[in-house]
Amino acid sequence: MRSNLTTAIFPVAGLGTRFLPATKAVPKEMLPVVDKPLLQWAVEEAAEAGCTRFVFVTSRDKAAIGKHFSPAPQYEDTLKARGKTNELALLKAGLPDGAEIIEVYQDEPLGLGHAIWCAKEAVGAAPFAVILPDDMVLHTTGCLAQMVDAHARLGGNLVAVENVPADQTHRYGVVDPASEAEGLVAIQGLVEKPEPAQAPSTLAVIGRYIFDAEIMQTLSRTIAAGESGAGGEIQITDAMSQLITQLPLHGLRFQGTRFDCGNQDGFLQANVAYALAQARKNGDTSLQSKLRHLLD
Ligand code: G1P
Repeated sequence: MRSNLTTAIFPVAGLGTRFLPATKAVPKEMLPVVDKPLLQWAVEEAAEAGCTRFVFVTSRDKAAIGKHFSPAPQYEDTLKARGKTNELALLKAGLPDGAEIIEVYQDEPLGLGHAIWCAKEAVGAAPFAVILPDDMVLHTTGCLAQMVDAHARLGGNLVAVENVPADQTHRYGVVDPASEAEGLVAIQGLVEKPEPAQAPSTLAVIGRYIFDAEIMQTLSRTIAAGESGAGGEIQITDAMSQLITQLPLHGLRFQGTRFDCGNQDGFLQANVAYALAQARKNGDTSLQSKLRHLLD
Protein backbone atom coordinates (compact mmCIF):
# COMPACT_ATOMS: atom_id res chain seq x y z
CA MET A 1 0.00 0.00 0.00
CA ARG A 2 1.38 3.43 -0.94
CA SER A 3 1.21 6.09 1.76
CA ASN A 4 -0.59 9.38 1.12
CA LEU A 5 1.99 11.27 3.15
CA THR A 6 3.04 14.44 1.30
CA THR A 7 3.77 17.02 4.02
CA ALA A 8 6.88 17.22 6.17
CA ILE A 9 7.39 19.71 9.00
CA PHE A 10 10.87 20.86 10.01
CA PRO A 11 11.05 22.64 13.40
CA VAL A 12 14.00 24.99 12.90
CA ALA A 13 13.30 28.04 15.07
CA GLY A 14 15.89 27.21 17.78
CA LEU A 15 18.90 29.42 18.49
CA GLY A 16 21.71 26.86 18.16
CA THR A 17 23.65 28.21 21.13
CA ARG A 18 25.87 25.08 21.29
CA PHE A 19 27.46 26.10 18.01
CA LEU A 20 28.28 29.73 18.82
CA PRO A 21 30.02 31.65 17.38
CA ALA A 22 29.36 29.74 14.10
CA THR A 23 25.60 30.24 14.56
CA LYS A 24 25.69 33.96 15.36
CA ALA A 25 24.81 34.93 11.77
CA VAL A 26 24.28 31.51 10.15
CA PRO A 27 21.34 29.35 11.34
CA LYS A 28 22.48 26.06 12.87
CA GLU A 29 20.46 24.15 10.24
CA MET A 30 22.53 25.82 7.52
CA LEU A 31 25.86 24.47 8.78
CA PRO A 32 27.17 22.03 6.18
CA VAL A 33 27.62 18.31 6.63
CA VAL A 34 30.17 17.65 3.86
CA ASP A 35 28.66 19.68 1.01
CA LYS A 36 25.06 20.40 2.02
CA PRO A 37 23.38 22.22 4.89
CA LEU A 38 22.00 19.95 7.63
CA LEU A 39 18.49 21.03 6.66
CA GLN A 40 18.96 20.06 3.01
CA TRP A 41 19.85 16.52 4.08
CA ALA A 42 16.56 16.42 6.00
CA VAL A 43 14.60 17.84 3.04
CA GLU A 44 16.15 15.24 0.70
CA GLU A 45 15.19 12.47 3.12
CA ALA A 46 11.58 13.73 3.11
CA ALA A 47 11.57 14.05 -0.70
CA GLU A 48 12.85 10.48 -1.03
CA ALA A 49 9.95 9.37 1.19
CA GLY A 50 7.45 11.00 -1.22
CA CYS A 51 6.95 14.42 0.41
CA THR A 52 6.27 17.42 -1.83
CA ARG A 53 5.21 20.01 0.78
CA PHE A 54 7.94 21.25 3.08
CA VAL A 55 6.90 23.33 6.08
CA PHE A 56 9.64 25.16 7.96
CA VAL A 57 8.71 26.32 11.45
CA THR A 58 11.32 29.01 11.67
CA SER A 59 12.23 32.31 13.27
CA ARG A 60 12.22 35.76 11.70
CA ASP A 61 16.00 35.98 12.30
CA LYS A 62 16.69 32.99 10.06
CA ALA A 63 16.10 34.44 6.59
CA ALA A 64 18.91 32.29 5.17
CA ILE A 65 16.68 29.20 5.42
CA GLY A 66 13.95 30.59 3.15
CA LYS A 67 16.61 31.93 0.80
CA HIS A 68 18.31 28.54 0.46
CA PHE A 69 15.08 26.91 -0.74
CA SER A 70 14.06 29.76 -3.11
CA PRO A 71 15.03 30.40 -6.74
CA ALA A 72 18.40 32.16 -7.11
CA PRO A 73 18.19 34.22 -10.33
CA GLN A 74 21.61 35.78 -9.75
CA TYR A 75 23.22 32.32 -10.03
CA GLU A 76 20.79 30.94 -12.63
CA ASP A 77 21.54 33.57 -15.26
CA THR A 78 25.30 33.28 -14.90
CA LEU A 79 25.35 29.48 -14.82
CA LYS A 80 23.00 29.23 -17.84
CA ALA A 81 25.16 31.67 -19.81
CA ARG A 82 28.22 29.53 -19.00
CA GLY A 83 26.46 26.24 -19.83
CA LYS A 84 27.09 24.86 -16.28
CA THR A 85 24.21 22.36 -16.13
CA ASN A 86 25.54 20.37 -13.15
CA GLU A 87 25.83 23.47 -10.99
CA LEU A 88 22.36 24.64 -12.14
CA ALA A 89 20.86 21.38 -10.84
CA LEU A 90 22.49 22.01 -7.44
CA LEU A 91 20.47 25.23 -7.11
CA LYS A 92 17.33 23.11 -6.57
CA ALA A 93 18.67 22.50 -3.05
CA GLY A 94 17.38 18.91 -3.11
CA LEU A 95 13.74 19.87 -3.71
CA PRO A 96 11.66 17.65 -6.02
CA ASP A 97 9.86 19.16 -9.04
CA GLY A 98 6.68 21.00 -8.03
CA ALA A 99 7.77 21.28 -4.38
CA GLU A 100 5.76 23.62 -2.21
CA ILE A 101 7.67 25.54 0.47
CA ILE A 102 5.82 27.03 3.43
CA GLU A 103 7.44 29.09 6.17
CA VAL A 104 5.62 29.65 9.45
CA TYR A 105 7.06 31.46 12.45
CA GLN A 106 7.42 30.30 16.02
CA ASP A 107 8.00 33.58 17.85
CA GLU A 108 8.64 32.10 21.29
CA PRO A 109 10.61 28.95 22.22
CA LEU A 110 7.70 27.13 23.86
CA GLY A 111 8.77 23.57 23.00
CA LEU A 112 8.64 21.00 20.22
CA GLY A 113 4.89 20.38 20.63
CA HIS A 114 4.26 24.09 20.20
CA ALA A 115 6.57 24.27 17.15
CA ILE A 116 4.62 21.47 15.44
CA TRP A 117 1.29 23.10 16.37
CA CYS A 118 2.47 26.33 14.67
CA ALA A 119 2.23 24.41 11.36
CA LYS A 120 -1.40 23.30 11.87
CA GLU A 121 -2.88 25.52 9.11
CA ALA A 122 -0.43 24.02 6.62
CA VAL A 123 -1.27 20.43 7.52
CA GLY A 124 -5.02 19.87 7.00
CA ALA A 125 -6.59 16.45 7.63
CA ALA A 126 -3.93 14.10 6.21
CA PRO A 127 -1.11 12.39 8.13
CA PHE A 128 2.16 14.31 8.10
CA ALA A 129 5.84 13.78 8.94
CA VAL A 130 8.11 15.70 11.31
CA ILE A 131 11.88 15.64 10.89
CA LEU A 132 14.28 17.15 13.42
CA PRO A 133 17.28 17.98 11.22
CA ASP A 134 19.71 17.62 14.16
CA ASP A 135 19.20 13.86 14.06
CA MET A 136 20.83 12.50 10.92
CA VAL A 137 20.39 8.85 9.92
CA LEU A 138 22.86 7.42 7.42
CA HIS A 139 21.40 4.58 5.36
CA THR A 140 20.82 3.78 1.69
CA THR A 141 17.05 3.89 2.28
CA GLY A 142 16.34 6.99 4.34
CA CYS A 143 14.80 6.67 7.80
CA LEU A 144 11.58 8.46 6.79
CA ALA A 145 11.10 6.24 3.71
CA GLN A 146 11.42 3.21 6.02
CA MET A 147 8.78 4.75 8.28
CA VAL A 148 6.41 5.56 5.41
CA ASP A 149 6.43 1.86 4.48
CA ALA A 150 5.58 0.83 8.04
CA HIS A 151 2.94 3.57 8.40
CA ALA A 152 1.17 2.48 5.23
CA ARG A 153 0.57 -0.87 6.99
CA LEU A 154 -0.09 0.39 10.54
CA GLY A 155 -1.64 3.88 10.38
CA GLY A 156 -1.89 5.73 13.71
CA ASN A 157 1.19 7.51 15.01
CA LEU A 158 4.72 6.27 14.38
CA VAL A 159 8.11 7.28 15.79
CA ALA A 160 11.68 6.18 15.05
CA VAL A 161 13.31 4.50 18.06
CA GLU A 162 16.70 3.19 19.11
CA ASN A 163 18.29 2.03 22.35
CA VAL A 164 20.46 4.61 24.10
CA PRO A 165 22.88 4.14 27.00
CA ALA A 166 20.96 3.96 30.30
CA ASP A 167 22.60 7.14 31.61
CA GLN A 168 21.31 9.20 28.65
CA THR A 169 17.54 8.74 28.98
CA HIS A 170 17.24 12.32 30.30
CA ARG A 171 18.01 13.61 26.79
CA TYR A 172 15.12 11.87 25.03
CA GLY A 173 11.49 10.91 24.89
CA VAL A 174 11.60 7.32 26.22
CA VAL A 175 8.99 4.69 25.39
CA ASP A 176 7.24 2.06 27.48
CA PRO A 177 7.07 -0.92 25.10
CA ALA A 178 4.11 -3.31 25.29
CA SER A 179 5.31 -5.84 22.68
CA GLU A 180 7.61 -6.10 19.70
CA ALA A 181 7.63 -7.95 16.39
CA GLU A 182 9.84 -7.57 13.32
CA GLY A 183 11.40 -4.28 14.38
CA LEU A 184 8.06 -2.67 15.28
CA VAL A 185 7.40 -1.84 18.90
CA ALA A 186 3.82 -1.38 20.15
CA ILE A 187 4.06 1.51 22.64
CA GLN A 188 1.83 1.77 25.70
CA GLY A 189 3.27 4.95 27.18
CA LEU A 190 6.13 7.43 26.91
CA VAL A 191 7.92 9.94 29.09
CA GLU A 192 9.87 13.06 28.11
CA LYS A 193 13.47 13.19 29.36
CA PRO A 194 13.18 10.86 32.39
CA GLU A 195 16.10 10.37 34.77
CA PRO A 196 17.46 6.80 34.39
CA ALA A 197 15.69 5.61 37.56
CA GLN A 198 12.30 6.76 36.24
CA ALA A 199 12.78 5.68 32.61
CA PRO A 200 10.37 2.95 31.47
CA SER A 201 13.09 1.50 29.17
CA THR A 202 16.21 2.63 27.29
CA LEU A 203 14.33 2.82 24.00
CA ALA A 204 14.44 6.46 22.91
CA VAL A 205 12.53 8.42 20.28
CA ILE A 206 14.80 10.03 17.73
CA GLY A 207 13.80 12.96 15.53
CA ARG A 208 11.46 11.28 13.03
CA TYR A 209 7.69 11.12 13.44
CA ILE A 210 4.61 10.37 11.34
CA PHE A 211 1.45 11.75 12.88
CA ASP A 212 -2.25 11.45 12.34
CA ALA A 213 -3.67 14.99 11.90
CA GLU A 214 -5.59 14.42 15.17
CA ILE A 215 -2.39 15.27 17.09
CA MET A 216 -2.99 18.95 16.21
CA GLN A 217 -6.33 18.89 18.12
CA THR A 218 -4.57 17.37 21.12
CA LEU A 219 -1.90 20.10 21.01
CA SER A 220 -4.60 22.80 20.63
CA ARG A 221 -6.34 21.55 23.78
CA THR A 222 -3.05 21.51 25.75
CA ILE A 223 -2.18 25.02 24.61
CA ALA A 224 -5.70 26.38 25.30
CA ALA A 225 -5.56 24.86 28.80
CA GLY A 226 -2.18 26.52 29.45
CA GLU A 227 -0.61 23.15 30.33
CA SER A 228 3.09 22.39 29.94
CA GLY A 229 5.35 19.38 30.42
CA ALA A 230 9.04 18.66 31.04
CA GLY A 231 11.16 21.82 31.25
CA GLY A 232 7.98 23.95 31.31
CA GLU A 233 7.60 23.37 27.55
CA ILE A 234 4.75 22.05 25.40
CA GLN A 235 6.04 18.57 24.60
CA ILE A 236 5.04 16.48 21.59
CA THR A 237 5.78 13.44 23.79
CA ASP A 238 2.85 14.37 26.07
CA ALA A 239 0.47 14.81 23.11
CA MET A 240 1.45 11.37 21.74
CA SER A 241 0.98 9.87 25.18
CA GLN A 242 -2.53 11.37 25.50
CA LEU A 243 -3.53 9.95 22.10
CA ILE A 244 -2.44 6.36 22.80
CA THR A 245 -5.91 5.28 23.94
CA GLN A 246 -7.46 6.56 20.68
CA LEU A 247 -4.78 5.82 18.12
CA PRO A 248 -2.13 3.08 18.05
CA LEU A 249 1.45 4.32 18.55
CA HIS A 250 4.37 2.29 17.21
CA GLY A 251 8.14 2.69 17.25
CA LEU A 252 10.20 1.59 14.27
CA ARG A 253 13.68 0.28 14.96
CA PHE A 254 15.08 1.88 11.81
CA GLN A 255 18.03 0.66 9.78
CA GLY A 256 21.04 2.98 9.74
CA THR A 257 23.43 4.92 11.95
CA ARG A 258 22.16 7.97 13.79
CA PHE A 259 24.27 11.05 14.45
CA ASP A 260 23.18 13.64 16.99
CA CYS A 261 24.24 16.81 15.20
CA GLY A 262 22.84 18.92 18.03
CA ASN A 263 26.27 18.64 19.66
CA GLN A 264 29.74 19.14 18.24
CA ASP A 265 30.91 15.54 18.66
CA GLY A 266 27.98 14.12 16.70
CA PHE A 267 28.25 16.85 14.07
CA LEU A 268 31.95 16.11 13.46
CA GLN A 269 31.35 12.35 13.34
CA ALA A 270 28.51 12.87 10.84
CA ASN A 271 30.83 14.90 8.62
CA VAL A 272 33.41 12.09 8.51
CA ALA A 273 30.84 9.30 8.10
CA TYR A 274 28.92 11.10 5.33
CA ALA A 275 32.17 12.01 3.57
CA LEU A 276 33.18 8.34 3.70
CA ALA A 277 29.80 7.24 2.30
CA GLN A 278 30.20 9.76 -0.52
CA ALA A 279 33.78 8.65 -1.25
CA ARG A 280 32.53 5.02 -1.48
CA LYS A 281 29.79 6.06 -3.88
CA ASN A 282 32.31 7.95 -6.04
CA GLY A 283 34.81 5.06 -5.89
CA ASP A 284 37.43 7.43 -4.42
CA THR A 285 39.64 4.84 -2.67
CA SER A 286 42.35 7.29 -1.62
CA LEU A 287 39.87 9.54 0.25
CA GLN A 288 38.22 6.43 1.72
CA SER A 289 41.45 5.25 3.31
CA LYS A 290 42.27 8.75 4.66
CA LEU A 291 38.81 9.06 6.24
CA ARG A 292 38.90 5.53 7.67
CA HIS A 293 42.18 6.47 9.31
CA LEU A 294 40.42 9.46 10.92
CA LEU A 295 37.64 7.25 12.23
CA ASP A 296 40.06 4.83 13.94
C1 G1P B 1 13.33 16.24 21.19
C2 G1P B 1 12.11 15.52 21.78
C3 G1P B 1 12.53 14.19 22.39
C4 G1P B 1 13.28 13.35 21.35
C5 G1P B 1 14.48 14.15 20.78
C6 G1P B 1 15.14 13.40 19.65
O1 G1P B 1 14.17 16.65 22.26
O2 G1P B 1 11.50 16.35 22.74
O3 G1P B 1 11.40 13.49 22.84
O4 G1P B 1 13.71 12.13 21.93
O5 G1P B 1 14.05 15.42 20.28
O6 G1P B 1 16.31 14.04 19.22
P1 G1P B 1 15.31 17.78 22.04
O7 G1P B 1 16.48 17.10 21.42
O8 G1P B 1 14.72 18.83 21.15
O9 G1P B 1 15.61 18.29 23.41
